[in-house]
Amino acid sequence: MSWKFSRRRFLAGGAAFIGAGCLPRSWSKTAPSRLPIPPLVDGRQGKPVELQIRSGTWSFRPGVKTPTLGFSQDYLGPTIRTRQGSELNLHYRNTLTESVAVHGHGLHVPGEVDGGPQRAIAPGADWQPSLSIVQPAATCWYHSHTHGKTGEQVYRGLAGLILIEDEEADSLPLPHQYGIDDLPVIIQDRTFDAQGRLVYSLYDAHEDGWLGDTVIINGAIAPVASVPAGKVRLRLLNGANARFYIVGFADNRTFYKIATDGGLLEAPVPLTTMEMSPGERCEIVVDMADGKPAGLQTLFEDEFDEEEGLVGSLLALFDRSGRELPPPSLTLIVDKTLPAHTAPLPEQLATIVRPQPREIVGSRDFMLNMEDGGGMGNDGGHAGTDMTINGAAMDMNVINERVQLGVWERWRIRSNQGAHPFHVHGCSFLIERMEGSAAPPEQRGWKDMVVLDDDDWSEIVVRFDHPATERYPYMYHCHILEHEDRGMMGQFTVG
Ligand code: C2O
Ligand code: CU
Ligand code: CU
Repeated sequence: MSWKFSRRRFLAGGAAFIGAGCLPRSWSKTAPSRLPIPPLVDGRQGKPVELQIRSGTWSFRPGVKTPTLGFSQDYLGPTIRTRQGSELNLHYRNTLTESVAVHGHGLHVPGEVDGGPQRAIAPGADWQPSLSIVQPAATCWYHSHTHGKTGEQVYRGLAGLILIEDEEADSLPLPHQYGIDDLPVIIQDRTFDAQGRLVYSLYDAHEDGWLGDTVIINGAIAPVASVPAGKVRLRLLNGANARFYIVGFADNRTFYKIATDGGLLEAPVPLTTMEMSPGERCEIVVDMADGKPAGLQTLFEDEFDEEEGLVGSLLALFDRSGRELPPPSLTLIVDKTLPAHTAPLPEQLATIVRPQPREIVGSRDFMLNMEDGGGMGNDGGHAGTDMTINGAAMDMNVINERVQLGVWERWRIRSNQGAHPFHVHGCSFLIERMEGSAAPPEQRGWKDMVVLDDDDWSEIVVRFDHPATERYPYMYHCHILEHEDRGMMGQFTVG
């Protein structure tokens, strides 16, 4: 394995480093709960999908009620199914007492309906965007994108999945029975106080962002899901505010990555571990035909030792601390009565046409800066916008870049400190280089997230096929939500 997993950390020195990242992880000792499956809402026929932004209470732990936010439910939102060539009509109603903007992450739609911070929905107000879905099959998501409050609102629950289907993907022998052999898996981490309430503070956030100590999957701690004795597809979303995860199975079984953020890879890529940055989606297929349970482990980066691998890292970590092994973040258990998908995986999934070098006409560089200016509060917390891109913190009144519609550009991205997951609205792009090295096979698909660090440049080639105006520009930003809320974001038009 050639790329570096354990390279992070903003060794900022001083008090900032003794943060949530050093807390031991915790887990529930009670009987495992079942994996919650968000209800599937069919948006394919253009019927409006009603999404009420509301508060609620959700039991992350049995018997403990936690105040939360959600879309038409207590925590998270329904999975919205749409299709290439159809109109997706959304109807948001904000019943909260604060403004909320909701963005469709990964969607190729004009800036007007992209749902950036300029589209904040006032308390009591509605927003009814109509989205023409032109892109191929992919796992996307929607989440709060409220100016300065994205981290907090996502943390409390404002996120959900959008599944795009198309004819080509339909014709492939892949598992596609939602909730049976095609499971949504939203990975997040949260910290709870003694009363079971969610603990969050942008002001007190660690340099790495807000790191929870407890992993939750679809809002449950270490849940169990029954699956058929065949191929099972997991649509993984790293929906954490700030954590990178190393993902693999407790028995080290091989799985196949079939899709990146923006759609199917050219061919399945066999893996035993992979890294997922905040905001990233990976579709994987795991074979459950042997009937044995499979434990999906989601390691924190500082727990992962590349030499030891996933299983060795876990053993070493918990031997060292004298504690027992944590249960897997999600356990798949075979139920032989469920209809199983046993066809072999197709060798070819999609065709990805990369631009010719002569087609790439523009280029831009983006330098992400930690603590570029701005203020620390009197007590050492973070006030205002002290993180920047190319020297500028996010300002709703400033358009940072103007991009031409329909032409390929090369964007190079780097940071002055640490690793950051960079996201661009309104497109899918292709990664040419990641931190100076060629993109690994499992990242050679359509993407809207790319990891970069301070060592070397990451490079993407990108083209925008939809307009974004000055009034409703697109955003590019770090998807560590506390970095975004602290200013590591910019606005751009496409025209
Ligand atoms: Cu997922 Cu601009 O965000
Ligand atoms: Cu986005
Ligand atoms: Cu960042």
